[in-house]
Parts: sequence; C-alpha cells; structure tokens
Amino acid sequence: MGQQGAATRGPLFTARSRRAPILLLRRGFRHGLFRPPAAGAGPGLQAPGAHDRAPMEQLYREGRPIVLRGWLDLRGAVVRAQIERSRREFDRLRGGAEFGPQLARRLAAGPARMVGCSEDVADPLEIEKVHLSLPGPGGEGLFAKLSWIADDERDLSLRIRFSFGLERALDWRRDARRSRAADRAALLAYPEGRVLAQHPRLLRLLGRLCGGEVRLSERILYNNAPGGGASFHHDAEPGQLGVLYGQFLGRTAWLALPRAELAQEIARLAPNRALARDAFRLLEHPDEPRLERLLNRDRRLTRALVARGALIVLGRGDALVLPSPSREVCAWHAVFALGKRPSLAHSYGIFRLR
Ligand SMILES: [Fe+2]
Repeated sequence: MGQQGAATRGPLFTARSRRAPILLLRRGFRHGLFRPPAAGAGPGLQAPGAHDRAPMEQLYREGRPIVLRGWLDLRGAVVRAQIERSRREFDRLRGGAEFGPQLARRLAAGPARMVGCSEDVADPLEIEKVHLSLPGPGGEGLFAKLSWIADDERDLSLRIRFSFGLERALDWRRDARRSRAADRAALLAYPEGRVLAQHPRLLRLLGRLCGGEVRLSERILYNNAPGGGASFHHDAEPGQLGVLYGQFLGRTAWLALPRAELAQEIARLAPNRALARDAFRLLEHPDEPRLERLLNRDRRLTRALVARGALIVLGRGDALVLPSPSREVCAWHAVFALGKRPSLAHSYGIFRLR
C-alpha cells in the first residue's frame, strides 16, 4: 500500500490494509519488514502495546505516545485543495524552486508582510529563511524556515518551521506573545493547519492532559520523503509539554516509547559495559557514535522495540500526541517515511497558554 493509495482512499483505507507489512527503511539502512499492530477498538484512543486501554491521562504521565486514530476531519473540498497545494509546492521546492516567492504568494491577500530572505551558510540543513512581520502584538521578527531534515543525500525530506527572533539565543523559549504571532503566520500561510490547531475536542484533551489551557507553537510542516525520516530523539525542551502531530497526506511509521523503556532495551543490547550500566543517563548524549548506531542502525533494537509494542503507523487523518511531562519521563521517537511519494504533516509543540 503506497502513500498515494492511502491519500485517495481516505476513510476506505481499511483496518486490513493498515496491517499489511511495512518496510522500515531510513537513509539507506533497512530495519526490516514489520506488521503494524492491530488497532484497538475504542473510539479515538488506540495507543500501542499493552496500554491500549489505559486512560489518556495515565499515558501522558508515563510519557507514552497517544494515537488519535482518524481525529482529523480532512473531508472538505477546501482543506483537500489546501493540502494538495502544499504537497505540490514541496515538490517544487525539492526541485530547486525558491521558497520566498512561493510564501509571498500565499501571504499576499492577508495582513502578513514579507521583510526579506536569508540563508545561514553555517547550517548544512537550512535552505532558506523568509523573514515576516504581522500587525499586532509580537508580530515583528517572525520567520518561516525551509530546511532539509537530514544532512544526507539519500533523504529528500523537507520541513518548514515558523518561529521568531534569534535561533541561537533560543528566543522561542522566552516570549509567548511572539510565539503566538508566529503561530498566526503559520496558519495564514498554510490554512490546512486549522484542522489540527483549531480542533476543539483535541484542545480540550490537551488541556486536560497538561493541567491547563495550551497553545500550539513552533509549528512545523513535514514533507517526509520515501527512505527518509527522523532519527531517535525527544522534544522535552524547557517549557514544552509535548508534541502534537497530524498526518494530512500519506503515511509514516514511528517507534515511540518512554525514555526508561528505551533505556532498558539499549542496556540489553549495549556494545559496552558503560552503556549497559547507565543507558538511561547516557541517552542525554544520543549522538555518541556507539549509542547513535544502536539507536538508529541496529535491527536488533528495532525488532525488540516492535516486539514491545512501540511501532505506530499513522495514516491520513490520524493524530499523535508525544508527551513530555519531563525530560526524564517523555516519549522518545523515531520516524520512517512510508510509501512512494512524500507525505504531508503538521507538527506543533505543546506549551502552557500562560
Ligand atoms: Fe520529535
């Protein structure tokens, strides 16, 4: 089942086709063929493994991924056209088109103003940053940044992130007002995002999980290309309570589980005693070469994680919450693009509203 099939079949994308074996392949490394887990029967909540029936609050507290199967309403002609436009434009960007003019056309009818474009030549991933301003509080110094997701020619996945200020100074952690302006810019530019960002039931759920109203900021569009995806990581940044991901087109496979459970499997398969003894702590440095190899290029680990229920396959209309109640208790995750065409997703950081 390719992504094209998933995209056109929509609701007819049956439980049976969801369970066809999938190839986990990322940047030239084949992790193997796996059968996705059976979906639970409960409406909405279909978390992986033995935790299918746990209340969402418990899943959140334990740093377990929460799958919200089919929560996104992508049936309308308008939203379908918006998604298709985004998909086509990502294809053009991959072919070398400039991002600035493309974004300018998207924003021309609204209040946002394009200020200029730049490129950080010290960042191998950055392609182009478009600087924006919006009338109203916090609307100066916003940007939309187009990047590769990996510094590897075998991975043609792209992303666009909306934020503001100086990235190296980590401005985004400090100014909720400007974050909200960047969130507005993201929605003006890519209006299909409202399906995720303005979903009342989803916002109520996140408010309940996080103990108060939330805002969805640091908005990123993902265009994961076949054979690409994200290495194992977490998103438990200071002040960030998790990530909300919505699959708008195509499919992605995920390995997602709490840090402590990932550490257990790493300890079991560790190539040296230090890692075996201290895997939980050493996950603070996932780029250390031996740990990086085990996390991202070791079929034994992938098999063990699938066996313990960490594999999730998202299709069109599915949403996923990756909880980060703390750095110690958070959902670590890795992503694999599936199918024959690049997919489209929006991914937002979850923060307290105030
Ligand atoms: Fe992430």
